[in-house]
Amino acid sequence: MKNSISRTLADKRILLIVGGGIAAYKSLDLVRRLKERGASVHAVLTRAGAKFVTPLSLAALTGEPVREDLFSLTDDARMGHIELSRDADLIVVAPTTADLLAKAAHGLADDLASTLLLATDKRAVVAPAMNLRMWLHPATARNVATLKGDGLTFVGPDDGEMACGEYGPGRMAEPLAIVAAVERALETPTAIPLPPGVGERPLAGPLAGKRVVITSGPTHEPIDPVRYIANRSSGKQGHAIARAAADAGAEVVLISGPVAIPDPSGVTTHHVESAREMLAAVEAALPADIFIATAAVADWRVDAPGAGKMKKGADGPPALRLVENPDILATIAGRAAARPRLVVGFAAETDRVLEYARGKLAKKRCDLIVANDVSPASGVMGGDENTVHLVDAAGVVSWPKLRKDEVARRLVDALAKRLTGAGG
Ligand code: C5P
Repeated sequence: MKNSISRTLADKRILLIVGGGIAAYKSLDLVRRLKERGASVHAVLTRAGAKFVTPLSLAALTGEPVREDLFSLTDDARMGHIELSRDADLIVVAPTTADLLAKAAHGLADDLASTLLLATDKRAVVAPAMNLRMWLHPATARNVATLKGDGLTFVGPDDGEMACGEYGPGRMAEPLAIVAAVERALETPTAIPLPPGVGERPLAGPLAGKRVVITSGPTHEPIDPVRYIANRSSGKQGHAIARAAADAGAEVVLISGPVAIPDPSGVTTHHVESAREMLAAVEAALPADIFIATAAVADWRVDAPGAGKMKKGADGPPALRLVENPDILATIAGRAAARPRLVVGFAAETDRVLEYARGKLAKKRCDLIVANDVSPASGVMGGDENTVHLVDAAGVVSWPKLRKDEVARRLVDALAKRLTGAGG
């Protein structure tokens, strides 16, 4: 379909919200029309929309996963609603129901579709489709006027025979008319620009102008294509530190192993699986002022993971030969060139916490070790609280039991002081 590529739509990312209504079948054609012009389409299906088209047909046509649920952790934990609307160049709602118009006009956000419309500063093109009495009702007319005032672009509805047997305005505009409206909208600037300065990383803050690289979460080391070695790290502490560093004005790169929590906002997050991938991603993110190794990196990986799924057999269980993974913290701390000024490690221990932490400080040549007790009785692994001790060449400072986000805030504060030579 090369000859259909449109200069306006080529490489544009369209977020398509499909509301409930018989016209939803036309949205499938709309997806094809947008894609053949070079756009990519991510679809969101409302609960009512899913009664008329299936997620499967939308996924097959868009070539992308379809999202339906505001709070789903299985959809894709990395793609929260903010990212979904931030990554789009334009939002299209087709068909738009009277209910969606009412929600949008009043700023309600009780499902994924309405939340996306409220959380975006991107242009939105809406193609209403409803019974003519609903369209002509003064309540709908008020909502349409409000939304036009907010900068939304309406296309249709058309007059015609309706599914309910009546004749009049309420039919969804034809896909090609929607495409034309999308092209026009893409050529006009953002609908709701943020006030100057809002949404930008603070220029002030104790880590303003500094770059911080952080590892977080577990690593997965493959045994074969379907099995892996892992650990219980949730990534909560590392992610909290990334967020706190961003709040303190730093430019933050987070290298995350597989976790079930969303990417922190204001942070560039790279997702990796294995220790070796994590090390490569950290090295690619350097130079940095601070490196914080929070990840629970697997010490060992399987030497020769199976190319196919290993089978049970007469020979009994396979013998897995393990080899040592690179130590990311020690590698970065030992760099001759571009060593971050502050290299911070964590020491999660189940006993003799301080003794082992001191050993790690020396062996890994880092500037600071944050030591904590992860014995099952402590509840730290996966929990929201942590009791830590800061171990450096000068000695030990112990903090009381704190929420992980408070540990993160205090740690960022302490690191900023060290970086500027203000003690701490
Ligand atoms: O030796 P141990 O795993 O207890 O050390 C913990 C510290 O070292 C943590 O900061 C962890 O992120 C880091 N580490 C690493 N690469 C490894 C093992 C641990 O960066 N392969």
